[in-house]
Amino acid sequence: MTPGSPEALRAALVTNLVNSGALSEEWVSSVAAVPRHEFLPETIWADENGGDTECSRSESPDRWMKLAYADVPIVTQWDDGAEADRSMPTSSASMPTMVVEMLGDLGTAPGHRVLEIGTGTGYNAALLSHRLDAENVSTVEVDAKVTAQARTALRSAGYTPEVVCGDGSFGWGARAPYDRIISTVSLRDIPPAWLAQTKPGGVIVSPVSPLFGGGAVVRLTVGDDGTASGPFTRSAAFMMLRQQRYQAASVDDYLPGDWPGGSGQSWTEFDPEIIGGDWLAQFATALALPDVYYRRHEFGDGGWTWWLFDTAVTSWATVDSVPGESRFEVRQSGPRRLWDEVEAAYNQWTATGRPGYERYGLTVTPAGQTAWLDKPDNVIPEHRP
Ligand SMILES: C[S@@+](CC[C@H](N)C(=O)[O-])C[C@H]1O[C@@H](n2cnc3c(N)ncnc32)[C@H](O)[C@@H]1O
Repeated sequence: MTPGSPEALRAALVTNLVNSGALSEEWVSSVAAVPRHEFLPETIWADENGGDTECSRSESPDRWMKLAYADVPIVTQWDDGAEADRSMPTSSASMPTMVVEMLGDLGTAPGHRVLEIGTGTGYNAALLSHRLDAENVSTVEVDAKVTAQARTALRSAGYTPEVVCGDGSFGWGARAPYDRIISTVSLRDIPPAWLAQTKPGGVIVSPVSPLFGGGAVVRLTVGDDGTASGPFTRSAAFMMLRQQRYQAASVDDYLPGDWPGGSGQSWTEFDPEIIGGDWLAQFATALALPDVYYRRHEFGDGGWTWWLFDTAVTSWATVDSVPGESRFEVRQSGPRRLWDEVEAAYNQWTATGRPGYERYGLTVTPAGQTAWLDKPDNVIPEHRP
């Protein structure tokens, strides 16, 4: 094998993924066989050292090829294709570690019929097709241009799964029921259609991104009654399903006049930045407060104002985090005391020993979803005003 060739780089990636424990035995031959670089466009943006750096294949062929087989996420589209100011990545080839860990979570067996949501480059659909036969694989992508590119890449690499352009939150009824559904795009709420389209005993693997922050992959097993339940398996930061991107109301809708309006003042010794710097703490807080979100604004000298809002637009709160201070000013307005709720949710998490993702789980019914700790009947109470 020539050093630097796609084959050599791919073999090195397989070795790394096996050594790290991410790549399970059942997926080794697929990752070794599928040419990942054939699914990437001429210009890519690789997540290196905390920023997205652009790389063009024609200008930097060696670097481009190395990135194609590096264990990093690669952005392939911005702003739903508008690419005006590249403010939001909207399609990508996910980080190989995450791709293979999620495929491991899926627990596939030969003959399984699988639906993928979020075709993106088509790389994951190619892996599924390699292992399960393309005739057992359907994949749904919302973006027409991304769909067309994936279809072309799949065909030219020799894979022929069914590639559908549509909104994956409705699943794909035409080939249901499935043994497995895997989503490579994140959402807050697991769509009822996915439950209805999965066989009893079947598995749904999907990233979940609660509104307050944090994010993790959930592995749900569908029961005979059409509900599904299962644990989170690992932390994950994925792009949001287009239809579930949160459109927050404007601050004026919460606070029509000038701050602090008629809000009540109090003080806390709890610095909100503790939560801001802790992805798991955000996730745990989010499970207890699924309808609360925050924004933070720097006000100079390293200080941050935290704004908390509820989705029903009834209440807001602010907390000023000032470096070096031991207590922080809180303002709360509306029927809910949102900062008190956040503090209580965080304290509950620490009081239970700061459980990790794997101790949490979800139960999903056609009517909605509930989060639990350790076992499905230990439901995390949601705040209901
Ligand atoms: C992280 S990328 C998927 C990576 C892909 N599986 C791969 O192997 O390259 C997420 C994709 O989900 C797509 N997406 C967003 N909302 C969607 C929806 N409602 N239905 C289907 N796909 C959606 C995005 O356009 C994007 O291409």
